[in-house]
Amino acid sequence: MFPARTYTSFDEGDSMALFGRNKTSVGLDIGSGFVKLVQVDHSGDQPEVTRVAMRPLLPDTIVEGEIMDYALVSDTVSSLFQDLAIKGSAVVTAVGGHDVIIKPIQMTRMKDSEARQAISWEAEQHVPFDINSVELDFQILDPDGSGVNMEVLLVAAKRELVDNRMALMSDAGLSTNVIDVEAFALHNALEHNYPEAMQGTVALVNIGHEVTNVNILEGGVPILTRDIPFGSRRVREDLQRERGLTAEEAEDVVQGRNELPDLDTVVVQAADEVGVGIERAAAFLMTRESGEGLGRIYIAGGGARIPGMEQALANRMSVETVLVNPFERVPVNASAAVGMDLESAAPMLLLSLGLALRQA
Ligand SMILES: Nc1ncnc2c1ncn2[C@@H]1O[C@H](COP(=O)(O)OP(=O)(O)OP(=O)(O)O)[C@@H](O)[C@H]1O
Ligand SMILES: [Mg+2]
Repeated sequence: MFPARTYTSFDEGDSMALFGRNKTSVGLDIGSGFVKLVQVDHSGDQPEVTRVAMRPLLPDTIVEGEIMDYALVSDTVSSLFQDLAIKGSAVVTAVGGHDVIIKPIQMTRMKDSEARQAISWEAEQHVPFDINSVELDFQILDPDGSGVNMEVLLVAAKRELVDNRMALMSDAGLSTNVIDVEAFALHNALEHNYPEAMQGTVALVNIGHEVTNVNILEGGVPILTRDIPFGSRRVREDLQRERGLTAEEAEDVVQGRNELPDLDTVVVQAADEVGVGIERAAAFLMTRESGEGLGRIYIAGGGARIPGMEQALANRMSVETVLVNPFERVPVNASAAVGMDLESAAPMLLLSLGLALRQA
């Protein structure tokens, strides 16, 4: 099984010491639709969720994964923490998008410490950015192998992206030592709740407000990650344009608070767009001799909750599709959810949960 939890990307300083002091950690997901937060208490036998909260962002504060208004985001984050009176928790957040590259590579077998020296030279051949402007991390995927070469998962993130996120957290009054990678945190949360997803070839598809992240996992190893510029916002806009609904009416339909005749046609169209993205990401599977395609699709994010989406995607792909519950195997304290309906929002919280699960 792939130990996604051991990725300690982009640590600044000693994160272990930080986690050692804190019994709780907070996973903070800064999405274009909602800032979402999950707090996990690690002091018991198993992790327990002790806080869940989310707060909307104004439209276009974040556009296609890029933060346009840093001050507004940091204000939203700090007011969320203040309102919940969260103190003394380790805060973990994540970066993703085009400026993060995750790639399985092969390199000559060597010890972890030697690989750390060699990784920058290796990365130069695989990363399309100036190697001096990126933060690098890696994981040896077959540490017990004996071949001349070893499989390594290479991670590179533009330093500017990591620095900007650090600055945002500090502006929000939070001390963060760890910036994770979105794809790994999603993976981590999936692994924790659906261990069976770490076998065979599966897709983890997080359909957000503006962006859909597609992760293809093989035997628990993230072999491909890709973002599709599609999210629930598009469905809302389609409903406004094609059905003459107001933004509020359309959003009520998207969130399942209101029914609409023939919603199916819009959802089938949306599922088709997601399906094309998954097919493109998984196209390389078809060229393989084994011929093994996708075994299952796990969907999460607010877009996965659109009524009919799960079934429409299953039909489109002819693959079993599962709507992910991040709390499937993580107990939630009865008073954890603040000002929200946890059951309906659950699929949106996969990333935050994955971040909060990290600990020393
Ligand atoms: N119960 C719900 N509460 C809030 N939003 C919901 C709910 N159900 C579905 N949605 C839809 O989910 C969207 C937010 O999903 P999510 O939180 O996954 O996106 P995000 O992480 O903010 O965006 P992105 O990752 O694309 O930047 C909302 O814009 C809304 O249309
Ligand atoms: Mg998101």
